[in-house]
Amino acid sequence: MNKYQEFIDQFGASPINNDLLERFEKLTGKKAHKFLRREIFYAQRDFDQILDLYEKGEPFYIYTGRGPSFSMHIGHIIPFEFAAYLQNVFDVYVIIQMTDDEKYFTRDLTFDQTEDYANKNIKDIMKCGFNPEKTFIFKNSEYIGTMYHNLCRIQRNLKFADVKSTFGFEQADNMGKISFPPMQMVPCLSSTFPHLFGSKKIKCLIPCAIDQDPYFRLIRDITFRMGEQKPALIFSKYIPSLQGPCKMSSSVFESAIYLDDTRTIVAQKIKNAFSGGGSTKKEHERFGANLEADVSYQYLRIFLDSDDELQDITVKYGSGKMYTREIKEKTIEVLDAYLETMRKK
Ligand code: TYM
Repeated sequence: MNKYQEFIDQFGASPINNDLLERFEKLTGKKAHKFLRREIFYAQRDFDQILDLYEKGEPFYIYTGRGPSFSMHIGHIIPFEFAAYLQNVFDVYVIIQMTDDEKYFTRDLTFDQTEDYANKNIKDIMKCGFNPEKTFIFKNSEYIGTMYHNLCRIQRNLKFADVKSTFGFEQADNMGKISFPPMQMVPCLSSTFPHLFGSKKIKCLIPCAIDQDPYFRLIRDITFRMGEQKPALIFSKYIPSLQGPCKMSSSVFESAIYLDDTRTIVAQKIKNAFSGGGSTKKEHERFGANLEADVSYQYLRIFLDSDDELQDITVKYGSGKMYTREIKEKTIEVLDAYLETMRKK
């Protein structure tokens, strides 16, 4: 069983099935995003309740976030691209939390560095096309005053035993790291943003990859006794690292494509990326490529817009009629086109 199915089975998330997608398209009158059509976003909690709210014309908001580092890779940008799409479809507020404190506690960085990274990352996030009238981006270090009341409420309701067993903290961990999890939960409570929602209790929808679920599983367990709404979630798979099917690391330069990589660097990285093609021409033509393992093909699934072209590549590369060199050239072209629009913005 792969880790994505395991996530559904072990942690009780639900798959995004065709019925849900059909309802989404019918209600919104918009075609499902390619991330949904291609099961990049593939699991959810309470997404049906978000659609119920939309159907009734009742409010909800979107919340997501970023732990700032010196540069964002193409995996980090996925939930923001998707959040901007959802904002456009639903016409709702988006809240973006920059956890500069988290990075201060968990990396060897000064506070000035985490703040600089946060400012730089915010500029990249803004390129995703959020509605400036309905988007609130904040750094924890600056917004802590307004958040403090709800932070305390969450801290009082969370048991250390549950946080420890979820995150596996160790005796030697610093207190900042141990006390951080409630910070990522606070934006799930709409009253954390009185300038947007007053004291109303509004549900939020969180797009993220599956690695962020532990925070939200914990808060979903305590919202009832706090008299609050459970956050809904929509989860993506990971964009694989250049070396193969594991998560990209923002600290290993060679493992990822960064938003500020030049075309030459992208080309060099893709040329060296893990390939699922046969090890000889003969073998490739006989058995075809292993599409699951092929990093360039997986990047095309995420960034190539045309479904028809993707389908053609899937059939031809999967059956050995297309070669790795061609797939890599296409991937370089598609990624560079995406990065070029970001560079211009
Ligand atoms: P961070 O900065 O590690 O990651 C930012 C967002 O990117 C997602 N992500 C990926 N998605 C696809 N493929 C990948 N290879 C990949 N790597 C990372 C993450 O799931 C995340 O959604 N603690 C958080 C910051 C945060 C947050 C939030 C995230 C604060 N509040 C609310 C999501 C929702 C962090 O360090 O994310």
